Amino acid sequence: MSTGIAPELVSTSVVTAPRLVFLETYGCQMNVADTELLTTILRRDGYEPTADPAAADVLLLNTCAIRERAEERVLGRLTELLQYKAARPSVQLGLLGCLATHQRDALLDRAPYLDLIVGPDGYRELPRLLRGGADPHVEVRLDRDETYADVAPEHGPGPRAWISVMRGCDKFCTFCVVPYTRGRERSLPPDAVLAQVAVAVEMGKREVVFLGQTVNAYRVDGVDFAELLRRTARVAGLERIRFTSPHPSDVSPAMIDVMATEPKVMPYLHLPLQSASDRVLAAMERSYTIAEYRDLLATVRSRIPGLAVSTDLIAGFPGETADDFLATERFLQEARYDFAYLFKYSRREGTKAYRLGDTMDEAEKGRRLRRLIDLQEEIALQKNRAYVGRDVEVLVEGPARRTEGFLFGKTREFKTAVFPERSHRPGDVVTVRVESVTAHTLRGA
Ligand code: SAH
Ligand code: SF4
Ligand code: F3S
Repeated sequence: MSTGIAPELVSTSVVTAPRLVFLETYGCQMNVADTELLTTILRRDGYEPTADPAAADVLLLNTCAIRERAEERVLGRLTELLQYKAARPSVQLGLLGCLATHQRDALLDRAPYLDLIVGPDGYRELPRLLRGGADPHVEVRLDRDETYADVAPEHGPGPRAWISVMRGCDKFCTFCVVPYTRGRERSLPPDAVLAQVAVAVEMGKREVVFLGQTVNAYRVDGVDFAELLRRTARVAGLERIRFTSPHPSDVSPAMIDVMATEPKVMPYLHLPLQSASDRVLAAMERSYTIAEYRDLLATVRSRIPGLAVSTDLIAGFPGETADDFLATERFLQEARYDFAYLFKYSRREGTKAYRLGDTMDEAEKGRRLRRLIDLQEEIALQKNRAYVGRDVEVLVEGPARRTEGFLFGKTREFKTAVFPERSHRPGDVVTVRVESVTAHTLRGA
């Protein structure tokens, strides 16, 4: 702007080029949000993200341990990334996330070339670990106080921001590794959450999704999840509030009330069931019976207008009999979910169910899973057919992946809608008349 030597030019000439970091994410949205957090932490220390592993000085995988398949994918990817380290020995290769805490010892054995193994509560230490001495650096301690409340995550593109409002899980469902990989439940102070929401809105985000493994167990002093939703709804400029994953046992009357009365809180609820057999639910230690769950489902549907509901189910939990499975199949038929995430049971080391063994062969698990998938596809299609001819409100995200000249976005119920591109832009909220549907998409005019 003026003559002479620009000070910023002088300083760039002495500062070394930023170190490039390649970060790849596996697993759930909490991991995606953690990668955004990691990006902030690393940028503060002079790193720049890169999408090209060949150019990176540091290669990091943010991993998942929920099922064996997730673990295998990560180990496969690690051996692929090893080539870059072979080509340039100064490259550092690190494994972060849930697999780090879950498989720390096995990793030291199976992947001795790793420079870093860092669990979900160790991310503040990452810059120091990347700088320091002998390797591998292992930081997998769980910290019941770490919430990263002061680290504003660097959100990706699009109109939606993911914000972790609580971390960890205290439920200890017998099949699940999460309480071991992510540690005890803890919530961010409401002011920290609201500050992150304000930053997101300032960046142009129109929607926030609150994240936590049992997100509706959120509680800090006198503020519970319902109150957090209520306060967030007052943020000007914010259009939509969502959250995942709530636990059925933590759905309170106040939470139902705010979903029913606050227009910014979207009418979509994920209510993970896992099984509809009381015997299996008890063995899973899910803390509700199918009768209680059925009542809850009826209550939320009658109280919250236009509510869409989804669930998670597991086929082949140890000891699941043909009758247990039939109960699940019948309930799936009865409940008429809008979506369902369906899984084969995967036996995980360290969990309580581990010692029950794996009582069903993979082929039978696969057959049961297939029956659930086929049934749910049919139900989802029928549910979506009810939208034909109706107007839905869509938050525009960007160009549709499969259809040229079309945009896509989510309806209030979290259904994907595609519609012809006009002058709309990502972040616009538009009304779309639904013309045709599939089990997964509403297509508009
Ligand atoms: N906290 C969330 C779920 C986290 S994991 C909740 O309670 O709903 C997401 C889903 O993965 C679970 O709901 C469950 O259906 C499935 N899952 C978890 N552990 C599993 C295992 N060992 N085998 C198969 N599916 C599993
Ligand atoms: Fe796992 Fe159960 Fe916690 Fe969900 S609530 S994360 S399934 S232990
Ligand atoms: Fe996987 Fe950890 Fe999420 S185990 S599902 S990344 S909490």
